[in-house]
Amino acid sequence: MLRPWEVAEMSRAERSLKELYESYINPGVAKLYHLMGLGAGEVRGEGCMIYDEDGRAYIDCVSGYGSLPFGHRPRPVLNAVREQLERMALSSKVMPGRPAAELAEVLARVTPGDLQYSFFCNSGTEAVEGALKLARAATGRTGFVAAEGGFHGKTFGALSVSGRERYRAPFYPLLPGVTHVPYGDAGALRAAVSDQTAGVILEPIQGEGGVHPAPPGYLAAAREICDRTGALLILDEVQTGLGRTGVWFAAEREGVVPDILCLAKALGGGVMPIGCFIARPGAARAFWEDPLLHTSTFGGNPLAAAAGLAALRLLEEEGMVCRAAETGTWLKQELVQLALRYPAWIREVRGEGMLLGIEFVDEARGGLVMSGLVEKGVLTAFTLNAYRVVRVEPPLTADREVLGRVLDAWAEVLEHWNNVLGEDDVEEEREPRGPHVENTGSGTGTVGRPLTGGGKADADSPGEGSVRRVLA
Ligand SMILES: Cc1ncc(COP(=O)(O)O)c(C=O)c1O
Repeated sequence: MLRPWEVAEMSRAERSLKELYESYINPGVAKLYHLMGLGAGEVRGEGCMIYDEDGRAYIDCVSGYGSLPFGHRPRPVLNAVREQLERMALSSKVMPGRPAAELAEVLARVTPGDLQYSFFCNSGTEAVEGALKLARAATGRTGFVAAEGGFHGKTFGALSVSGRERYRAPFYPLLPGVTHVPYGDAGALRAAVSDQTAGVILEPIQGEGGVHPAPPGYLAAAREICDRTGALLILDEVQTGLGRTGVWFAAEREGVVPDILCLAKALGGGVMPIGCFIARPGAARAFWEDPLLHTSTFGGNPLAAAAGLAALRLLEEEGMVCRAAETGTWLKQELVQLALRYPAWIREVRGEGMLLGIEFVDEARGGLVMSGLVEKGVLTAFTLNAYRVVRVEPPLTADREVLGRVLDAWAEVLEHWNNVLGEDDVEEEREPRGPHVENTGSGTGTVGRPLTGGGKADADSPGEGSVRRVLA
């Protein structure tokens, strides 16, 4: 009889990745990849590029939802993790460790105001869970006020404060005492926060909500409301933090210091998973009396902490944050110019730095363009709480040359579909596309291949079948 790993090796040769996903992960996930024309597995990443098992190259404009600030396999972070790996990988958990302590110190120095005490975990949602617990422990209150459209993760607490019904409804009852208010409406926030409120949790820019920056004055108003009522202000910068929006922390634009700041994604430097919440002393002390009140086996492990230290150093020493601001401003201007040419397709381009969102007139048009971009070798993704919005979230290190190729691909795909569909209605529900057509290039091959030229597309062209079905 074959042993389990022998079966896995056999599968590699005989079964497609799609079949493996269908049989052993989730058929729905398999369908999603298939719909996007992403059948071949990713096997190698280098800077802004990803290569699949068929040797096709893609420009990564998703960056693991912001977790690859320096692209794939940045040498300084890799080296720091390798060096740490040679000494110690995971913590005994019974002895203190220098990497986590040093990372906490650097974080206290780079974060705004008197944010000082860090707790390390492994993901963004865990950072939010911890922040919610700390707010309850510090205030002795139970309620939370959060924003409609907000995204904070999918564990129970984080889901409870997230603002999309589609992801929440199947899991009721969620955490009690959570009120959602329209994002950006300071009056609604003021009305919802009371002396029962433990915390107000907000993103300075709603990322998964469709890339919506807070209106001017909103975060400052939130700070004032919290100060007046004694609620803690929790800012979730899991996606916006650490340079993504062209400043170290998006809330810095308004000079607002939260009581608790949540970080993750970029903190791992694109090499290790890590999450963290950092609190001001007044809030943090609630976890001091019983230091085992909130713990994590893998949180603060030496490898992740080494990656975090290297990531912060790289951000600082290489001037990455300024670079993201400059490149992002240019990229946004270019995308706005593009959007103006296709008003039947694109409603708005929003965002700051390298966190940009392109709002389509509907989900179906966004989906068509995204799969067209895949054919061109450009990876994008819609935002989780607003499928109409396609994110452009490249590594902070992406330069104008690589982004120029991304813009060319966007222009070609929009021109193509605009010629095919013009202002016709596109049904929301799309059918799977035709078979994925491989690039004939080598492993480091050129990006993508041309779609059918302008004018009405060739009936046999890949993707065309789906369009007719869409129009049917
Ligand atoms: C603002 C924000 N908070 C929390 C999370 C959850 O992070 P994770 O997926 O690492 O749990 C995300 C993920 O996209 C996020 O954007």
